[in-house]
Amino acid sequence: MPDIRVHQFAGRIDAPNPFWLASAPPTNCGEQIMRAFDAGWGGAVWKTIGEPVTNVCSRYSATDWNGQRMMGLNNIELISDRSVEENLREMALVKKRYPYHAIIASLMVASNREAWHEIVQRAEDAGADGLELNFGCPHGMSERGMGSAVGQVPEYTEMITAWVKEKARTPVLVKLTPNISDIRTIARAAKRGGADGLSAINTINSITGIDLDTFVPRPNVDGKSSHGGYCGPAVKPIALNMVQQIMGDPEAALPLSGIGGISTWRDAVEFMLLGAGTVQVCTAVMHYGYRVVEDMAEGLENWMRSKGFATIEDFRGLSVPKVTEWKHLNLNYKIVAHINEQKCIGCDLCHIACWDGAHQCIHLDRVEGPVDGPAEVHDTPAMIEDRTRTSIACTPVTRKERTAAAANHGPYPTPLNKIPRVDETECVGCNLCALVCPVDNCITMVRVDGGVPAETWDQRTHGAECAVEPQRS
Ligand SMILES: Cc1cc2nc3c(=O)[nH]c(=O)nc-3n(C[C@H](O)[C@H](O)[C@H](O)COP(=O)(O)O)c2cc1C
Ligand code: SF4
Ligand code: SF4
Repeated sequence: MPDIRVHQFAGRIDAPNPFWLASAPPTNCGEQIMRAFDAGWGGAVWKTIGEPVTNVCSRYSATDWNGQRMMGLNNIELISDRSVEENLREMALVKKRYPYHAIIASLMVASNREAWHEIVQRAEDAGADGLELNFGCPHGMSERGMGSAVGQVPEYTEMITAWVKEKARTPVLVKLTPNISDIRTIARAAKRGGADGLSAINTINSITGIDLDTFVPRPNVDGKSSHGGYCGPAVKPIALNMVQQIMGDPEAALPLSGIGGISTWRDAVEFMLLGAGTVQVCTAVMHYGYRVVEDMAEGLENWMRSKGFATIEDFRGLSVPKVTEWKHLNLNYKIVAHINEQKCIGCDLCHIACWDGAHQCIHLDRVEGPVDGPAEVHDTPAMIEDRTRTSIACTPVTRKERTAAAANHGPYPTPLNKIPRVDETECVGCNLCALVCPVDNCITMVRVDGGVPAETWDQRTHGAECAVEPQRS
């Protein structure tokens, strides 16, 4: 049985598993956090506590995509609007009842040494296992010199982290804002300030949409709006990139808690492969509830078992060195699109994509006749169109197919003249056709041996040493 416990994350934080709730509405009070621990979460970063604040109404908006609700969530919420006393009293209670779970206090106070010393001491006295400095909140608090106003300036990040470290007895994590051109500059500053770990990322500045009748962007607060913080599945690629940037930089790398669009165990594994020791989740829990952790823990264990990994440390960070600069990529690596005639449904999507969006090398010029070898029988294009309309946006399946094929209550094999042909000499291997094809594994990208050794841009322009593995045939 794989061991998914967290051992001494950032020096001293242990937890029954790496799945933590991010500082947000799901960690707003002790009662919620206890329910979350009962549901299976290994840790919780308490909703940020600090100066008393007032929240506005409304405060959330979202982007939906093709029937999927909340692909991205936007909020203009500030930190906890419950008093510091109330939060810390509950924190002490939860820690007493759940001594083996990780409780991290997320903190944000005015930028002066005494205020930070005081809040650090109070949070640790309440039993927090670690501290997370919220230098990331992009709205409201930043206007008052806190949150991302600190996290966008390396000098402030280093200085306040160092103040906190003067007092802290538990590990100090700095939560980073993505609203910066190079996240490594802030991660390095946190490290110079003595941080024991990092959390990345906080929310991304956003305006999710505008009401076309009132012209007011969402969320609407009495006729006005404000830029908010974006999170949820839509931000995962941005978060993964930033985590890789940090973990690939020796001056920035620290134990890291990965955040941003994690909804499944697969998402969590991806963050871990890029170096995260724990992961934090907010939007998926706001959408589906605490119970999502069950699938996450089980999925992670199953995957580790299938790969023969005994602990998270066995695979953590394995993908970090697989990201490199463009100039180190092999210019002579060549792949081309291959269409599986037995699977193709003749929907024409790849042909249109290649002609209008790529390199005009997929042709519909085959003659009428049966496919070469036994064809898979499948639904008609019209049936597939009906089915995929709910999951694929604007599927431009050819209209002329619809009437004739709909009358034919498939399944049927696609005639050869409906199956596109790839001109391999023209194909640039961009992947677009494989990305748009609605049939699994119908278009595969196949390696072709160009007969030339690997060569990078650096080598081509400077004659530098070979930096990539030799090409395999
Ligand atoms: C409504 C809402 C409130 C949040 N409040 C806080 C907060 O008080 N402190 C903080 O550090 N992050 C806060 N966050 C950011 C989350 O902790 C997390 O970094 C972000 O949502 C990305 O994770 P996700 O994609 O899983 O939602 C908040 C996010 C949301 C949606
Ligand atoms: S990989 Fe790109 S260029 Fe090649 S056939 Fe597909 S879309 Fe066209
Ligand atoms: S997109 Fe796929 S299924 Fe549709 S025609 Fe091209 S290869 Fe066939």
